[in-house]
Amino acid sequence: MTLPIIAIVCSYLLGSVSFSVLIAKWLKGIDIRHHGSGNAGATNTLRVLGKGPAIGVLLLDTLKGIVAVVIGRLVADADWVPVVCGIAAIAGHNWPIFFRFRGGKGIATTIGVLAMLSFIPALIAGIIAILAIVWKRYVSLGSLIFTGLTPIFMWIYGDHLSNILGSALLFVFAVYRHRTNIKKLVQGTENRLGSNKGGVS
Ligand code: G3P
Repeated sequence: MTLPIIAIVCSYLLGSVSFSVLIAKWLKGIDIRHHGSGNAGATNTLRVLGKGPAIGVLLLDTLKGIVAVVIGRLVADADWVPVVCGIAAIAGHNWPIFFRFRGGKGIATTIGVLAMLSFIPALIAGIIAILAIVWKRYVSLGSLIFTGLTPIFMWIYGDHLSNILGSALLFVFAVYRHRTNIKKLVQGTENRLGSNKGGVS
């Protein structure tokens, strides 16, 4: 039992490495949480710093989720261990111990976790989410569609219960972290992709 607990703690610490905060500090000497939407994530990095840094943040944050699930699989045979390691990495991203518990909304890390746990359901949900983003240009809407649809597709696909319950919990995380975005979506004031409010020169 000790190894799974160590793996879960390590996953949380890994998730707590907030790449958008580090890259923004390194490139421009700013705290990304004081710019744009204030979110420590790839979408806000795109808004504030542009495409290159945003792609870097997206890949590194996704990698955190992938590595957490791999760690979980390495330490135990039980299905629930990689799921909890993935959730711990996302919790670290959202509430990072290294950055005063002010992190991001966890979507890039969730992509890594869900793709590792159940690739086909995550891929189908991801394609639908991307189409929604291309159509409406709201990344937040796509994030909610992706996290909301993946557990449903896992269930249809006949995935095991720990994956379905774990990804349903990640949808709850996503809704909670996007509560301001949801209000703005309802009011019609949400930032659209490419509107470039909050850029730093
Ligand atoms: O993944 C975060 C995205 O869904 C919304 O980000 O910066 O527009 O609040 P932001």
